[in-house]
Amino acid sequence: MPESSQPRHVAIIMDGNGRWAKKRALPRAMGHKAGGDAVKRTVEAAKTLGLECLTLYAFSSENWKREEGEISDLMNLMRRFIERELDAFVANGLRLKIIGDYKAFAPDIVEKLEDALERTKDGSRTLAVALNYGAQQEIARAARLAAAEGEVSCEGIERHLYTADLPPLDLLIRTSGEVRLSNFLLWQSAYAEMLFVDVLWPDFGEEHLRAACEEFARRERRYGGR
Ligand code: IPE
Ligand code: IPE
Ligand code: MG
Repeated sequence: MPESSQPRHVAIIMDGNGRWAKKRALPRAMGHKAGGDAVKRTVEAAKTLGLECLTLYAFSSENWKREEGEISDLMNLMRRFIERELDAFVANGLRLKIIGDYKAFAPDIVEKLEDALERTKDGSRTLAVALNYGAQQEIARAARLAAAEGEVSCEGIERHLYTADLPPLDLLIRTSGEVRLSNFLLWQSAYAEMLFVDVLWPDFGEEHLRAACEEFARRERRYGGR
């Protein structure tokens, strides 16, 4: 793959955990657990493939609409995931970044996340995780901050997006066959390439990420020019 056609920043809407579990007559929680294993595989694959930044949509600001039991399963999974994976993240030179209003989570999760941010701050590759994230909320917040500085321009807004310090989004992938953005990275997707794949998130892994990067390399980006 020529260097220039390698994506720098890939984002993934990790969808399909519930359907994966349903197909196997398992509780939804098992689908989310298998989804956690897919996160681990995909983070490793991003390193193998040399991505500068991987952004994962883990919990949307609309996911609070789910049943209390499912939300608490997701929160417990997040607690365990950080406990188990943090050392490996540090050892692998990953810088963790959180996009979204994570401070709305339980205090012990906020504490774990902030500890993880601190311990990974010197990493050279970025794993951005979207937690309690909604793109419309992100844009409204950035616009408010830009207005307070008296500069409501594209640049002024962009400076206040959570992603301001990340490379431009090259490729957005959604798993599970749904073809919608579900309030994810709306601003950043303006000229991103998009790929909707039929794989359910718990089945996703290195070969899928590699195939997505190869598909990206075949796309012709124009940005409105010729
Ligand atoms: C994605 O899987 C995980 C989260 C949104 C947290 P879903 O739980 O949305 O799975 P489906 O869409 O019901 O299959
Ligand atoms: C998007 O998936 C959110 C995450 C993957 C975290 P959803 O399953 O919540 O989206 P909808 O409800 O199908 O649009
Ligand atoms: Mg879903």
